[in-house]
Amino acid sequence: MEMDGKTAVITGGAGGIGGGTARMFAGRGAKSIWLADIDDVNGEKLAEELREFCACEYRHVDVTSEEAVLNFFEGIGSSLDVMFNCAGITSVKGLMETDAALWNRIMGVNVTSAFLFSREAMRIMSAQKSGCIVNVSSISAYVGGIRTSPAYAASKAAIIGLTRALAKYGAPVGVRVNAVVPGLVDTDMTRAKDFVYSTSEVPLGYIAKTSDIAGAVLFLAGEAGNYITGQCLNINGGMYFA
Ligand SMILES: NC(=O)c1ccc[n+]([C@@H]2O[C@H](COP(=O)([O-])OP(=O)(O)OC[C@H]3O[C@@H](n4cnc5c(N)ncnc54)[C@H](O)[C@@H]3O)[C@@H](O)[C@H]2O)c1
Repeated sequence: MEMDGKTAVITGGAGGIGGGTARMFAGRGAKSIWLADIDDVNGEKLAEELREFCACEYRHVDVTSEEAVLNFFEGIGSSLDVMFNCAGITSVKGLMETDAALWNRIMGVNVTSAFLFSREAMRIMSAQKSGCIVNVSSISAYVGGIRTSPAYAASKAAIIGLTRALAKYGAPVGVRVNAVVPGLVDTDMTRAKDFVYSTSEVPLGYIAKTSDIAGAVLFLAGEAGNYITGQCLNINGGMYFA
């Protein structure tokens, strides 16, 4: 199986896409999964559920805090196969309602976190000369947002640049780095009452299930993705062709 014997860290692991990916990893042979999030109730609950299949631990980590990230890595040991940077937030506030505090909060959770976790994962992976990092961008990076703050589109475009920079760093030391680029996915983020969308915007006629994204993460992280690095894979039901 794709994740046979592998160890993974998932930020936003208590959430929709992160949790769905943890479930898929557990079902595909993962040896151990670390969930990092601030949603302690859902994080602990999922870790307990997945312990039926593999070792799984939840850790409370504010992914914007360098200190918290460094503490987290001190606790996970010296081997890591898959780093999935999935924590993220959005806002429906438009340009004129976006102040610097909101901008910085979105950048912190969506971009700084991926930088911090990737840097620490890269330390471990480059030493073992293997590993795979998967980031989460968004269709918003290409289309300028789907009625969301410009900060969200900017943060997800930054993820594409970060992915490519990390891929260049990682290739000579045996580490691949890619991103998934979802369109609309059925999670708490899109279920929020002020997030307005219509399935008529999606040519395939429905918004993605978390497993639709998790399957692509599994593909990139597993052996089938061995020669793929620096790529940003669109998973959007035909909403946008890049
Ligand atoms: N749902 C969509 O339509 C969609 C589309 C494109 C991209 N994405 C991206 O997918 C990723 C996952 O989002 P989701 O849809 O599963 O939403 P979600 O709200 O279900 O999950 C996000 C998770 O991030 C966690 N989080 C937020 N701030 C944090 C912090 N400071 N420290 C640690 N954890 C924190 C939340 O607690 C939550 O569990 C995000 O990066 C999001 O931008 C989502």
